[in-house]
Amino acid sequence: MKITLIMVTSLDGVIAKDSDHNAFEWTSPEDKKHFQSLSKEIGVVVMGGNTFKASGRKNYPGRIAYVLTHNPENYDMGEDVFALTGTPQSIASELRGKGHEQVALIGGAQVNRDFLLAGLVDEIYLTIEPIIFGKGLHLFDEEDLNIKLELLESKNLNDSGTILLHYKVLNGTN
Ligand SMILES: NC(=O)c1ccc[n+]([C@@H]2O[C@H](COP(=O)([O-])OP(=O)(O)OC[C@H]3O[C@@H](n4cnc5c(N)ncnc54)[C@H](OP(=O)(O)O)[C@@H]3O)[C@@H](O)[C@H]2O)c1
Repeated sequence: MKITLIMVTSLDGVIAKDSDHNAFEWTSPEDKKHFQSLSKEIGVVVMGGNTFKASGRKNYPGRIAYVLTHNPENYDMGEDVFALTGTPQSIASELRGKGHEQVALIGGAQVNRDFLLAGLVDEIYLTIEPIIFGKGLHLFDEEDLNIKLELLESKNLNDSGTILLHYKVLNGTN
C-alpha cells in the first residue's frame, strides 16, 4: 500500500499557528483545488485527531476518511468518517487489510512525524505558500530527522508564488 503525504506550509515550514488553526483558512485557492483533486484521486484520507477537529468533517466528501484517535467518543465523526488507533505499522496493516491500495496522509505534525519515523511515507506533495508565520507547528513535530528525498516534479500553482513540490522518500528511517 502506497502512502502519500499531502501538506501545505508557509515559506518557513509552518503548517499551522497552533493545533486549532485550520489550513483551509490561509491557503491559496489553487492549493485547495490541488488537495481536493489529488486526495479524491487517491480516494482515502488519514489524519490525526487534531487535524480533524481543526478542519471539520465537511471537507472530505467523495473520500473515505479515517481519524486517528484513542478517544473516538470525543469526536463528531458522522457516518462517513471512521476512527483508527494503534501504532503507525498496525494502522497501515489495518488499512491494507481493508483493501486500500493507496492512502493520502494529510497531517498534522504529530502523525506526519510518526509515520515518517516508521518508514511508512512513500511520497510527499508539499505546497509552499508565499507567507511567513515564524512561530507554529512544523511539518514534522519535533524530532531529529535525516530523511533523504528525490524531487520528482515542481511547478508553480499560480502567479502569486505558490509552489508545488513532489518528492519520493528515499529512506524511511532516521
Ligand atoms: N498545513 C497543512 O497542510 C495541514 C495539514 C493537516 C493539519 N494541519 C494543522 O495541523 C494541526 C494539527 O496537528 P497536530 O500535530 O496538533 O495533531 P495531529 O497530528 O493532527 O493529531 C494528533 C492527535 O491524533 C491522535 N493520534 C495520533 N496518532 C495516533 C495513533 N497512532 N493512534 C491513535 N490516535 C492517534 C491523538 O489524538 P487523541 O487525543 O484523540 O487520541 C493525537 O493527539 C492543526 O492546526 C491542523 O490545521 C495543517
